Amino acid sequence: MGKYPKTGADAGASSDKWQIANCIDPSFSACVIAWQQEHGRHLLPWQNTRDAYRIWLSEIMLQQTQVAAVIPYYSRFLARFPDLFSLAAAPSEAVMSHWSGLGYYSRARNLHRCAQRVVEQYGGVFPATPELLAELPGIGRSTAAAIVAFSQGARAAILDANVKRVLIRVFGIEGYPSAKPVQDALWLRAQALLPHGGIEAYTQGLMDLGATLCTRSKPACDRCPLISRCVAHASDRVALLPMRKPKPAVPHKQTAMLIITDAAQVLLQLRPDSGIWGGLLSLPEVDGQIALNLAQMPDPAQFAQSVARIVAPFGSIASCQPLPSFSHGFTHFKLQVTPYRVRLARRLPAVGQSSHVWYAQSQLADAPLPAPVKKLLLALFDATGTS
Ligand code: ADE
Repeated sequence: MGKYPKTGADAGASSDKWQIANCIDPSFSACVIAWQQEHGRHLLPWQNTRDAYRIWLSEIMLQQTQVAAVIPYYSRFLARFPDLFSLAAAPSEAVMSHWSGLGYYSRARNLHRCAQRVVEQYGGVFPATPELLAELPGIGRSTAAAIVAFSQGARAAILDANVKRVLIRVFGIEGYPSAKPVQDALWLRAQALLPHGGIEAYTQGLMDLGATLCTRSKPACDRCPLISRCVAHASDRVALLPMRKPKPAVPHKQTAMLIITDAAQVLLQLRPDSGIWGGLLSLPEVDGQIALNLAQMPDPAQFAQSVARIVAPFGSIASCQPLPSFSHGFTHFKLQVTPYRVRLARRLPAVGQSSHVWYAQSQLADAPLPAPVKKLLLALFDATGTS
């Protein structure tokens, strides 16, 4: 399958050369479809298939993440988990390690749960309606609509952040996009605008317009097929819409991470499912508050005690040296991390510490670690050799 097939919705478009200037058709969707066929994206790895598994996977990866970042993850993920059954049966560590670096890890945990639910509840076949799909973990209303539109050609409205921006500008909708009345108005619009044919090209077209022309900053209005009907453009408000909520200052948090090594291994800890990096392995951390105090008014004795308490079940400390701090930005806060290199004098046999694992330093590249932690460890062990 190449481009999405032309349908009745763009019946007025007599040839491939249909021009933007001709876009005086009363139908909004006809403009979007014709533009998508001519100028949209047609060769993304998750296009040109009706396979709900591949489409679902891509839509989850594309939530809050741009196409260019998703493509290599998508290919690696599919190579390892080629179908729903292989994903459902996989250990969670394997799923998390194939998501490692893509961020928003609750998506990976929900993806895994969703695969298991579809196998258990639906015999491995995704349910056919957006309503049933939206009951599954990680699938919201817009994602459910995208899945049925692309996998079945079903008529369902999407409304992700890019599409919201397009509709807000074209219809000149005031108010913060997160406000309930604005959301409600947008869903009504999105639903009312749906074409009766060509839903795949229409859905993809809205996504493509939002991602490539109707961008947040520097939108390419001169190339937009909707320019003649765009209220924001006509009223010179493109830069003002969607309205931006003043951002609260992001809090800065601090933590100390312990790189506890023994021979060619490093001690990792499984993070709880809730909270940042949930479900990934990471480095053991000294309580954030103590680390904060340390930065402001160092109390080395208290810090050393905390480190000793964490290390005690694994051995006795030969040395503990700070490494350069680094910062990592999350959506809601900024985290400053100070790593400490802890070498053991004597390692105890592991007992009753199922959340901790000794991990071979040589295997870290494939470990389900948060990206900044992986980067830190790979740089350290590459530079020093395993130790
Ligand atoms: N963003 C969300 N879904 C998408 C898709 N199917 N193609 C491109 N970008 C997207």
